[in-house]
Amino acid sequence: MKNKIVIGNWKMNNSFTEAEELLTSIANIMEDMTLETEIVICPAFPYLEMAADLAEDNSFPYYIGAQNVSSEEKGAYTGEVSALMIKSSGADFCIIGHSERRMYFHETNVCLRKKTDIAIVNDLIPIFCVGEQLVEREAQNHFTVIENQLKESLFHLDRSGFERVILAYEPVWAIGTGITATPAQAQEMHAFIRSLVAEKYGTEQAYNTYILYGGSCNSKNALDLFLCKDIDGGLIGGASLTANEFIEIIRAAETSTKND
Ligand code: 13P
Repeated sequence: MKNKIVIGNWKMNNSFTEAEELLTSIANIMEDMTLETEIVICPAFPYLEMAADLAEDNSFPYYIGAQNVSSEEKGAYTGEVSALMIKSSGADFCIIGHSERRMYFHETNVCLRKKTDIAIVNDLIPIFCVGEQLVEREAQNHFTVIENQLKESLFHLDRSGFERVILAYEPVWAIGTGITATPAQAQEMHAFIRSLVAEKYGTEQAYNTYILYGGSCNSKNALDLFLCKDIDGGLIGGASLTANEFIEIIRAAETSTKND
């Protein structure tokens, strides 16, 4: 039995007080529940330390992740946030390669490779996102796009580096659109990703690698997605901003693990 991972990516939402309230609401509802599922919350940079402190105080266990990391170690890079800063604020995870970063901030596979390396050196667990655009799927290029994203940004890692990485398949056309990939579409891509990992790092590593689904995942569709053989949890955007909705997704993860 492999437990699930559910990650909340809050994106650029919430004031400081709202972020504190949301974390407190989640913790109050979940208090003293025993979970198999690992939970990671990724708030904006200025809230990392507060979120990490709350995570320590709460009886409900969750980890903290950042939504991005600089590709540079340190120095004169105004506005950048380094892996060391993130780690020393109490976070253990870091999203890398989200399609919004690729699209709006022109992050390339080469730049994401650097970010992954720097995260690993600084003891952060990369949550590495891959995903195709709608036109790429319509042109039947989706498998090639994902394969290139993996090969150009991750497959240079040796096994000890790669085993620290969590993968997230987030079809761009499903993000924030309300259009979820069907369980069959998601499963097909997850199985393909796992086969690439197996080819490169062996079947044991492929089994151990977490591949999460993201893109309009919510309390209504989460269970069907999580019951798919190669879907190991979810990377949740909009639905992670409401305590009850997020908790229902965590419950779906728990149910799916029990049905494994
Ligand atoms: P939505 O769940 O809002 O579609 O966002 C998914 C996502 O981008 C998570 O990283």
